[in-house]
Amino acid sequence: PAEPDLAGRHVVISAGGTREPLDPVRFLGNRSSGKQGYALARTAVARGARVTLVAANTGLPDPAGARVLAVGTAEQLREAVLKAAADADAVVMAAAVADFRPAVYAAGKIKKKDGEEPAPIALVRNPDILAELSAERPRPGQLVVGFAAETDDVLANGRAKLARKGCDLLVVNEVGNGKAFGTDENEGVVLGADGSSTPIPHGPKEALADQVWDLVVARLA
Ligand code: C5P
Repeated sequence: PAEPDLAGRHVVISAGGTREPLDPVRFLGNRSSGKQGYALARTAVARGARVTLVAANTGLPDPAGARVLAVGTAEQLREAVLKAAADADAVVMAAAVADFRPAVYAAGKIKKKDGEEPAPIALVRNPDILAELSAERPRPGQLVVGFAAETDDVLANGRAKLARKGCDLLVVNEVGNGKAFGTDENEGVVLGADGSSTPIPHGPKEALADQVWDLVVARLA
């Protein structure tokens, strides 16, 4: 059994991928499975934390011992995370949040008309929840952790993103070529606002999760 080094702590984890509706039957979405976020939730429960898991469109079984809040869109995820973050010691944003959503939601199913070209889809920007949390720190001393999937210049892009978002830790994964998305394994590097850089070797998503909690515990102490 794991060391209960998160006992007495409340941690909030977002997982999955948001879906931004175009009409009642269609959405813009992404391929995030939610597996890394669920692994973070399971390992945090095992280490004694009170866990709130904000789950966006995952279809995965609820982790035992966690409070699970199901959400669909980025706006719903933002509401749920900010509310739960009010008394959280750490917030880990593992969810893939859509950067943009359709500017207009059609109340009825959008129809194709014979002989007409399809209309372009206008998009508007979604709020950046990680940047907002990092700036506001709903609870003083709270630790904020982000994830970044990068396809190239992984370290340089990760450093720039850490600074831009203002979070304490950023878990950077290389994606593409069958890496990370939907699989049970992951690898990467955790960059710290303190300048630290912790490589995470290839392994189960549970192992990566435990290494993230190690870094969180060390910084909460
Ligand atoms: O900017 P990018 O999408 O690469 O950043 C990824 C990180 O930011 C993840 O931790 C994700 O959960 C978070 N994010 C967010 N709100 C957004 C977009 C991303 O919280 N609108």
